[in-house]
Amino acid sequence: MTNQTKSEKDRVVIFDTTLRDGEQCPGATMTFEEKLEVAHLLDTMGVDIIEAGFPIASDGDFEAVREIAKRTKNAVVCGLSRAAHKDIDRCAEAIRPAKRGRIHTFLSTSPVHMKFKLQMEPEAVHDLVISQVTRARNHTDDVEWSSEDGTRTEFDFLCRCVESAIKAGATTINIPDTVGYSVPEEYYDLFKRVRENVPNSDKAVFSVHCHNDLGMAVANSLAGVRAGARQIECTINGIGERAGNAALEEVVMAMKVRNDKLPYWNKIDTTMLTRASKVVAAATSFPVQYNKAIVGRNAFAHESGIHQDGMLKNAQTYEIMLPETVGVKQTSLVMGKHSGRHAFIHKLEEMGYKLAQNQLEDAFVRFKALADRKKDIYDEDIEALVDQEIAHSHDRIHLVSLTVIAGTHGPQRATMKLDIDGQVRIEEAEGNGPVDATFNCIKSLVPNEAKLELYQVHAVTAGTDAQAEVSVRLSQDGRSVTARAADPDTLVASAKAYLSALNKIVMKKQRDMPVVAAAGH
Ligand code: KIV
Ligand code: ZN
Repeated sequence: MTNQTKSEKDRVVIFDTTLRDGEQCPGATMTFEEKLEVAHLLDTMGVDIIEAGFPIASDGDFEAVREIAKRTKNAVVCGLSRAAHKDIDRCAEAIRPAKRGRIHTFLSTSPVHMKFKLQMEPEAVHDLVISQVTRARNHTDDVEWSSEDGTRTEFDFLCRCVESAIKAGATTINIPDTVGYSVPEEYYDLFKRVRENVPNSDKAVFSVHCHNDLGMAVANSLAGVRAGARQIECTINGIGERAGNAALEEVVMAMKVRNDKLPYWNKIDTTMLTRASKVVAAATSFPVQYNKAIVGRNAFAHESGIHQDGMLKNAQTYEIMLPETVGVKQTSLVMGKHSGRHAFIHKLEEMGYKLAQNQLEDAFVRFKALADRKKDIYDEDIEALVDQEIAHSHDRIHLVSLTVIAGTHGPQRATMKLDIDGQVRIEEAEGNGPVDATFNCIKSLVPNEAKLELYQVHAVTAGTDAQAEVSVRLSQDGRSVTARAADPDTLVASAKAYLSALNKIVMKKQRDMPVVAAAGH
């Protein structure tokens, strides 16, 4: 669609909920600083509305929403709240510093949710819709109301609630497919019928919010848009509750590449999609599946001979979009140990990183250390290094040194030195294998109740001198966090990943409590 043909009625508003629905899924917990970084990126890439969190959920959530509200330059900053007045008031307080703020308040409307979750009669639910929207509207004139489990809601009741929500002042109406149950034709039909049946439907923007339990979140979202919805709620990399939400990069690229069939537009700078995917993957430590549409490592790779041959003759044979459109750059052999600071900074700029001076200095020192141990350094190595720099710069526990004795005769032994809030401590431990010994060292230096849920290793690039990237997921008090770290030594990467996850737990728990106490003792 060219600029001349763009009309407001075809504009689709992109509502990103990576920091709320995305962050709320098991293991995707982000620290305060990571949330700020993600929000900054979303704002820069043209997201219209950033759902920054659920302020009543915790003081940490509240603070993050408030800080994002203060800092965001272009996007509307939104907070989520249940129907209770204290939730709504807390949400209003969190978004108050925003140039433009929105309260998103929701209530279940399906029979199963009303009976078992809310234990309320439909009449009482309907009354509560009016009172929650009215309460929110007293705080701001940008109010979104969501009928949770909307796709399993009885049609007439849904229409009645939507009509009342609009009458009470809701400016956006979201009908979520909360459990990812719908199919595209059905979701299309639902929006069409609701818009036709609700007399004041023209007074609000309709919004789609689809979960991916049956793998149809993107298709359903686009079906809703074809039926008149003009807001898509989505997340980077499709992270979110259970199987996730519709992926932002997929809905955006579908509308761009198939604009003949989906003649809608939005303000996203698509060349930032790859970067956004990497930042969110690093912040949440949720790896992106290799064959993920748009941003997966293989999304533009052509392996078979027939495909490669076709590509050499004409890229259009097997490529429906140019990799550059989504910000993919050719992987290049970057540098080695002779590369200087200037070249390093230039490379970072080219890769889209903007680091603070101290982060830059640290990253350069680590780059040099890596270059001493690894002959060829690729973009992926730099990415792993810088993402770690960003993720760990606020950590309170740092690995100083690790020595492990491994081999055929156990038990294996590890000796570890940690810097904990500026104090260096040392410990030795045995284990059933070198990884176990390493993790046992951490447990005696930082006693904690965290349970190891996942431990995964993969190589960042090819070659036996490749860096190992380790993902660790820990859970404590019903909340799990994932963290990643890379190093040419697999055990060092393992220790760093474990510590990083522990740092997240500690930082989440209490920002200025002594680490050992915050970790559970
Ligand atoms: O999936 C859902 O229903 C939600 C609502 C809170 C909008 O996330
Ligand atoms: Zn959701």
